[in-house]
Amino acid sequence: YKMPKAGEIKIRQVTSSEADQLMAFLLEHYYREEPLTAGTAPPEPTADDKEFLLSNIPHGTCFLAEEEEDLGNGSRIVGAVVAGPKDAGAPELMRREAAQHAGSKWGRILDVLSAVETGSDVCRRFNVPSSLHVHALGVNGELRGQALGARLMEAVAQRAREQGHRLVSVDCTSVYSARLMQRLNYELVHTLRYADHLDASGQQVVTPPPPHDSVQTFVLRL
Ligand code: ACO
Repeated sequence: YKMPKAGEIKIRQVTSSEADQLMAFLLEHYYREEPLTAGTAPPEPTADDKEFLLSNIPHGTCFLAEEEEDLGNGSRIVGAVVAGPKDAGAPELMRREAAQHAGSKWGRILDVLSAVETGSDVCRRFNVPSSLHVHALGVNGELRGQALGARLMEAVAQRAREQGHRLVSVDCTSVYSARLMQRLNYELVHTLRYADHLDASGQQVVTPPPPHDSVQTFVLRL
């Protein structure tokens, strides 16, 4: 046994007993800044949104960045990624989900994600049976710029290969995540500008704060 060094950060899979810890991290370091969540009222994510993210844990496709604290005093979560499989039925499924939740905060978010799914249609576009889709990526604000986002995305790509997916896909709602995917050599396949996505009365469905201006869909071919 090797004593872990303080400050050392490891990437590992989220286990089924860690839903509460994962959600506590996401509430603090993901949802507050994520542009679709920040760009719809009220600011707090709804129960169906949180349930949806946590429902991905059993797929074995969610990972944590965990930092060792001093003198083996345990560890804390400093980053997380939530991913899950999708197939060519995704656009249809998303349209139904968005219609079902119409009128709520989660409904507005799904309305945007459904438009993105219809426009990007990644499984049909690349003629593959499935994609491992990244739903959420967050890093503790104090530890950004240290490649933790990149390491979490690499863990997802590795798991996607093991599970036989031929694509990793991600809808980047933030300029920061979009820049990260560009650096990781993901291909940009679709852009939806927030200013162009309007509801029936001509209002923007989501109004994220600057500098975020669009959802950019990226893929990595495996
Ligand atoms: N605000 C300000 N600066 C940032 C942010 C941010 N949200 N994110 C990264 N940066 C800066 C970094 O500090 C770094 O600066 P430096 O070059 O001066 O050191 C530079 O941008 C590059 O950072 P990365 O290494 O690419 O960022 P990292 O992987 O650490 O974090 C992440 C990226 C995870 C997207 C982070 O911005 C975050 O947690 N955001 C909040 C949640 C969110 O919006 N997630 C993405 C939504 S899309 C999706 O989830 C699929």
